[in-house]
Amino acid sequence: MNYSHIKPIERPIRADRQGARRHYGVHPYFTRRPYNVVRDYITTYSKEGDRVLDPFGGSGVTAIEAFLENRVGIHNDINPLANFIANGIANLSFGDLSDYEATLISIAEACKQKINSVAKASSHELDQLKQAIKLPENVRLPKNADVDRYHELFSEKQLLSLAILKEAIDRLENRSARGGLLLAWSATLAKLNKTFLSAEGRAESRGGSSIFSIYRYKIAKDPVELPVWETFHERATNVLKAKMEIDQAIQLKKQTGGWMGQFESHAEDVEDLSFRFAGSIDYIFTDPPYGGHISYLDLSTLWNSWLELPVNNDTRQKELIVGGELNLTEELYVNKLFKSVHACLRMLKKDRWLSIVFQHWNPAYFEAILSSATESGAELKAAVSQVGDPIWSMHKKKNHSVLAGEMILTFQHTGTANKRRRRGKFDVCEAINAILENTHSNHVFGEYLFNKVIIEAWKKSAIPSLNMSREEFIDIIKHAGWHYDEENHYWAKDKPQIEMLFSHAS
Ligand SMILES: C[S@@+](CC[C@H](N)C(=O)[O-])C[C@H]1O[C@@H](n2cnc3c(N)ncnc32)[C@H](O)[C@@H]1O
Repeated sequence: MNYSHIKPIERPIRADRQGARRHYGVHPYFTRRPYNVVRDYITTYSKEGDRVLDPFGGSGVTAIEAFLENRVGIHNDINPLANFIANGIANLSFGDLSDYEATLISIAEACKQKINSVAKASSHELDQLKQAIKLPENVRLPKNADVDRYHELFSEKQLLSLAILKEAIDRLENRSARGGLLLAWSATLAKLNKTFLSAEGRAESRGGSSIFSIYRYKIAKDPVELPVWETFHERATNVLKAKMEIDQAIQLKKQTGGWMGQFESHAEDVEDLSFRFAGSIDYIFTDPPYGGHISYLDLSTLWNSWLELPVNNDTRQKELIVGGELNLTEELYVNKLFKSVHACLRMLKKDRWLSIVFQHWNPAYFEAILSSATESGAELKAAVSQVGDPIWSMHKKKNHSVLAGEMILTFQHTGTANKRRRRGKFDVCEAINAILENTHSNHVFGEYLFNKVIIEAWKKSAIPSLNMSREEFIDIIKHAGWHYDEENHYWAKDKPQIEMLFSHAS
């Protein structure tokens, strides 16, 4: 494969969020990337046997897809929960499905009745049980949580039932099956606590924790207590289906040309990792945190605490976010974002490719990514807006500070470093009008427009001069004759006056 002859992906890829059992329904995590998009990027920019890294790996989509595509999938994340999920899914490739099934039956025999009796127990009986079972440490929660301490996130019955299940799983002898069921137990935690909000108009069990929707520990007004055993069993069944899917994918590779996928996982800050992997990586696909709206480590306390995965202050200090418990500044974030991109290029072999997924309203964040890549010897080859994903429209309704639809910036490591002068002039109004005039469609996503403007400004070395407010951006689009379609969350071209007359008459 000649890496310089690769034709970059220039068009958005329709996201399939639910098509892979190994990612959907096993364990929730924040901003999980659609597996099919990640997979297409991996197969375009690398070949079999290549070392594919995601240094901000999250739930492991990149490394798992690389592994299943016969690459060496290298996962890294600073958050122990992310590594627990990624390793947990990848390790489903070990062991026999029949052992997992038998183990689930043995857990049912050991726990189902006990858990159901907790549901009916008197407060005296609950007190007695509490003395006899190991509960998680009652750690302090982040300042913006509705309650102070960990145990207050659960009803007494939830806490005890989850402890019964965990104790039984920890005692299992079959290592692979134990890992799979612990993954299911951990996923169950997300539903069996007081931050769980039922989705309006759907079955009670459909919904999610406030941790994933408003990114804080908000206690539900009327907490729903889902049945513990059934909730766990549903998750465990999903884990078994994921295992079956992974086994089949590997089997297929074995039958058609051979299987050589590998998976490895690391738990380091991206800059520290870059010294270990200097000049040894063939492709990087990554999705760093987008500024301040998700404090991963704070929000993962629910899991890290009970799974006894420690997070110290040094780790917190290195998290690439704005805010959080340590009140990390925006200046620190931009600086670290710059250094993280530099770290990626330190790891990447020459001629190889780097894709960074990003979205934010602040152009300075893009400037940090683009200037760091350019100064570290990479050339921007493609900028694709993945707009129109339905999941984003949902987030948009709930959280107006989040932009819907991210940009995938793809660079090639040419080795020629360029220092950009930041003095270019740029007229935002002129740029938006030019983009709209050249748009063939009669609707356009705001994020697509914004991303285009960023890239145009970048080409003119003028991102720092892009100091428009969101209101100004909106005004320019309206003046150009477009209106916002609330239902579809895009901008639509106003109908010419004469057409309006006809449409009113009909
Ligand atoms: C946007 S998420 C990645 C989600 C991932 N694309 C997926 O599909 O699941 C960003 C990740 O970066 C991790 N992170 C934050 N600061 C980090 C650092 N300094 N080094 C490594 N990982 C970090 C967070 O824990 C989080 O899991």
